[in-house]
Amino acid sequence: MQIAIPSPSARARTGALRFRQAMLASAMALALACAFGASAQPAPKAAQTAEQKKEYVPDVGQDGKDVIWVPTPQTLVDKMLDMAKVTPKDRLMDLGSGDGRTVITAAQRGLRAQGIEYNPDLVELSRRNAERAGVGDRATFVTADLFATDLSKADVITMFLLSTINEKLRPRLLELAPGTRVVSNTFRMGDWEPDAEETVTQDCSTYCTALLWIVPAKVQGKWDVGGQTLQLDQHYQKLSGRLGSVPISDARLNGTEIAFTVNGVRYQGHVNGRTMSGQAAGQGNWSAKRA
Ligand SMILES: C[S@@+](CC[C@H](N)C(=O)[O-])C[C@H]1O[C@@H](n2cnc3c(N)ncnc32)[C@H](O)[C@@H]1O
Repeated sequence: MQIAIPSPSARARTGALRFRQAMLASAMALALACAFGASAQPAPKAAQTAEQKKEYVPDVGQDGKDVIWVPTPQTLVDKMLDMAKVTPKDRLMDLGSGDGRTVITAAQRGLRAQGIEYNPDLVELSRRNAERAGVGDRATFVTADLFATDLSKADVITMFLLSTINEKLRPRLLELAPGTRVVSNTFRMGDWEPDAEETVTQDCSTYCTALLWIVPAKVQGKWDVGGQTLQLDQHYQKLSGRLGSVPISDARLNGTEIAFTVNGVRYQGHVNGRTMSGQAAGQGNWSAKRA
């Protein structure tokens, strides 16, 4: 099964097929755009040198284990890394890494980056591409199923999969260290809304939107703030609740950073496991511990 959307129902299977058709249609559009020089896709086979002809050349739209291969346009790769605010200190993992372009671009920015790709031919191609780009030491590739891969070492996760796969991954993503950035090409994550969304218009005709999520700290429950109870109700990065009897407003998490307003006073702080602390505007420092 190639574009398997794991659903037992015939309706879901029909949806998967429709989506696959849509992906293939878009893939054809990409290939056409490529032929007219509109995007940085692999060169047409006819234009390749004799040496390149011996190499494996993937076809846009070819089958993959859970999703077909369609490369992310380079302008969107750049945007995805910009949105994640990557630095050379970050370790990046691309789930379903295709020809390696996201991993290689990250390595060119000084990151240690790893691609997880089920197709061994794509893995070999990625390794050659990384060597050619001079980043073979920082860009590594593993032939593996992304569902059987340990994600815990990554500071940044990138992916161009499907919404159904993103949702299946979601519980594992939410267990990653707070502050881990997850960036997806085009596909969403169910009711976990993105923290940011941007679309590129230059040199991109399809799959041009990047979505960023920042894994939120876990703060659901009761906290003691100087003898008062802060009740927090958490829905991913969004918060509601009350301090004593006063409702909090405009409350959310950005990884381990928390902010909310009570009685017109803006509280900002940092969550550190079972404690949090920060500043209340015009009021000085505040701190809380799990009640
Ligand atoms: C849409 S392509 C994206 C490629 C690359 N990330 C990019 O943005 O250019 C999806 C890739 O995921 C790979 N893939 C599909 N199912 C997979 C799985 N279960 N584990 C690892 N890779 C998988 C496919 O072979 C394909 O290369």
